Amino acid sequence: MPGDKSISHRALMIAALGRQPCTIQGLSDGDDVTHTRLAVEALGAGVEDHGSGGVTVSGGLTGASDPIYLGNSGTGIRLLTGLVAGYGFTTTLDGDASIRRRPMDRIIEPLSAMGASVRGSGESAALAPLTVEGRPLRGIDYTLPVASAQVKSAVLLAGLRAEGPTTVREPAPTRAHTEEMLADAGVRVESSDGSVTVWPGEVKAPDLIGIPGDPSQAAFWLVGACIAPGSDLTVENVYLGPARGGFVDVLARMGADITVDSDSGDIRARTSELRATRVTAEEMPGCIDEVPILAVAAAAADGVTVFEGIDELRVKESDRAASIVEMLTALGGECRIDGHNLVVTGRTPDQGLGGGTVNAHGDHRIAMAAFIAGAAFGGPVTVEGFEATATSYPGFARDMQHVTGWAQ
Ligand code: S3P
Repeated sequence: MPGDKSISHRALMIAALGRQPCTIQGLSDGDDVTHTRLAVEALGAGVEDHGSGGVTVSGGLTGASDPIYLGNSGTGIRLLTGLVAGYGFTTTLDGDASIRRRPMDRIIEPLSAMGASVRGSGESAALAPLTVEGRPLRGIDYTLPVASAQVKSAVLLAGLRAEGPTTVREPAPTRAHTEEMLADAGVRVESSDGSVTVWPGEVKAPDLIGIPGDPSQAAFWLVGACIAPGSDLTVENVYLGPARGGFVDVLARMGADITVDSDSGDIRARTSELRATRVTAEEMPGCIDEVPILAVAAAAADGVTVFEGIDELRVKESDRAASIVEMLTALGGECRIDGHNLVVTGRTPDQGLGGGTVNAHGDHRIAMAAFIAGAAFGGPVTVEGFEATATSYPGFARDMQHVTGWAQ
């Protein structure tokens, strides 16, 4: 599996804060992480590229004179906003058309409460580009209105340069990479049920950070294996930490023949007869990025699958709830939004989905989910905007060839 995207972003940022050189191995080669890498360089860190996902970062931030472009990356722009908020320089952070539509008030509000100056654009001044004028910050005790690891992380990173401790409380558990990696970098961090507190202090990034495989990318292949006839597939060295493996539980509940080796991080899936399930709102943050491919699994499962509490899907790289409905409908499936829920009516596994044309709407996870549907059910599926896969997984088509033995 390619290196985990969420961990790659954080590895670059944390390494850029440390004084000692830090070597990162297995960095994601997706465009999003490349943008973060360029961002920390623009801010003053040194990045030496060793090839094949290996870089050495020499930290120290001095500020960027030009606006920093984060492309399609919500994680990049939101975390960096928190990271630079307490420095004595001004930073402008921007991204592509999708980033300019995504809500930034969710970070502006808590960062402002810390004393930060973050000015957005648009009528509500809450959209990218964002201008961050570095200010002295104070720690806060903040309860997240939505379960978002990006918001939690932006606040915690700002907390590194605040006066006093900063606490973030979450309504449901979200991925814990920031707190895990800050603790590994010698920062005082305390996590307890539903909250995490960080104290300001020096960041001593480890000499070496190895990035494990990305579970969100593994999910595409594992669902593909469950629904394609005659499959037996193992993905290796996948990150299995908090709030990332929820899709495995969902698939197991659907009757998938899926096993996890928690020592090695290997996950094996074989062709399965899937049945419908209910994914609760509480479970949603633990499988948020996997909903597009889980919806493809649901389309091949016996019964009606309900994904509850899908509002956050509407503010991803695309309106992902709408993109999923459009994708499954285009392939002959049945899917609708019902209030805060996404409802997928499965066809019998032997019917599966048919062929058709799917517009990825610039969203990497829609492009890959549609491609897997085409490969597993025989399609043919045409994915318009397939190049969006480069956001997180430039090697996706190559790996498809490896998994299936197809010529590209
Ligand atoms: C991410 C958090 C999630 C996820 C995104 C990556 C992160 O976003 O969807 O792909 O790395 O923190 P939200 O925090 O907005 O839910």
